[in-house]
Amino acid sequence: MQKIGVIPGDGIGPEVVREARKVLEVVAEKRNLSLEYEEFPLGAAQYLKTGEIISEETIQRLSRKDAILLGAMGDPRVKPGILEKGVLLRLRFHFDQYINLRPIKLLEGVPTPLAGSDHRVDIHFVRENTEDFYVGLGGRVKKGLSKTELVLKRRTYEAKFDIGIDLEDETELAFQIGVITRHGARRVMEYAFQLAKDKSIKLVTCVDKANVLTEMYGPWREVADEVSKKYGIEREFQYVDAVALHMVRTPERFRLIVAPNLFGDILTDLGAAIQGGLGFAPSANINPSGVSMFEPVHGSAPDIAGKDLANPVGAILSSALMLETLGHKDAAQDVERAVIDVLKSGKHKTADIGGKTSTSRFGDAVASGLSSN
Ligand code: NAI
Ligand code: MG
Repeated sequence: MQKIGVIPGDGIGPEVVREARKVLEVVAEKRNLSLEYEEFPLGAAQYLKTGEIISEETIQRLSRKDAILLGAMGDPRVKPGILEKGVLLRLRFHFDQYINLRPIKLLEGVPTPLAGSDHRVDIHFVRENTEDFYVGLGGRVKKGLSKTELVLKRRTYEAKFDIGIDLEDETELAFQIGVITRHGARRVMEYAFQLAKDKSIKLVTCVDKANVLTEMYGPWREVADEVSKKYGIEREFQYVDAVALHMVRTPERFRLIVAPNLFGDILTDLGAAIQGGLGFAPSANINPSGVSMFEPVHGSAPDIAGKDLANPVGAILSSALMLETLGHKDAAQDVERAVIDVLKSGKHKTADIGGKTSTSRFGDAVASGLSSN
């Protein structure tokens, strides 16, 4: 028995999660998996009613799950960031989900904005999820002398920054600190090279901007070299700007990319674009020895919420990632196969790619494909 915490969330979140669960039910039956779900009604409705974003008790209950499946967070009635940061970032941080896995795969039957028609896009994108310029350290100072102490407190380490700035001839200065620890770099590289090994991938592309941000990505490169040697898998270093260019022009050259947090954030949205749009992009926030969380890349899409218009593919593929991470490789492949078959058939297209199929009918098609195969 594996326990899944389900957070449908806001906007189209509940609609796409409903389809993912529909598909999970069928594949569980087929592969004899025993999955038990508990829903957590986090999001705007609860927040507006109770004033609470997420309670300690909810976090404790979630920590007893084997995985979390999430729809989306965010609602026009709530100031941007409150729910997104309050739930998503809180959980990612609490469960130390240091890997953001974003498979970028162009499935047959899905239109891509890439020029030409014969692109093979199949990139395992591994983004570091806890460090870099996203550690939340920074400040704004006015002319003159100022002193700040910034503290970075993590489970395994603590770093204090005593910063004195003497600003002359300018009225204001803003700064943000990026941090990469050796341990932080090592665990993401270990994950990336292990994934390469599991998938028989022979080359890992390590992204950085070490030609300009020389200190920042020093340990990143050194650790990549060590781990590459350890696994006997080749690595290449590429600057983020070059990677952006190649992802558009020759995406087939990449099989597995590992990137620091900020560059990974940007490149994976580019990835979502070349795989056909936000509606198709799945993701996983992974702690290999803890509770991982699976969610489509898109947000709550208030503009189409409640209309049965959303594309559920990102959510369904996220649930396939969940199955794979929970050790059910065959079931994960079944789900992916079923999605591919429906898309390839050309019979079911959601509105985001110019079709008329509703969210629920698309989910039905995937589910019925699964049960008849
Ligand atoms: P969004 O991803 O919700 O929507 C962007 C555009 O893509 C919209 O036009 C939307 O209709 C379309 N779209 C998104 N997902 C789709 C799907 N599955 N099928 C068809 N069309 C789809 O991003 P936006 O509009 O910037 O943000 C809306 C809210 O979602 C905000 O509150 C934002 O903070 C939040 N958000 C939450 C995320 C999360 O929960 N992980 C990620 C991104 C945004
Ligand atoms: Mg993003």
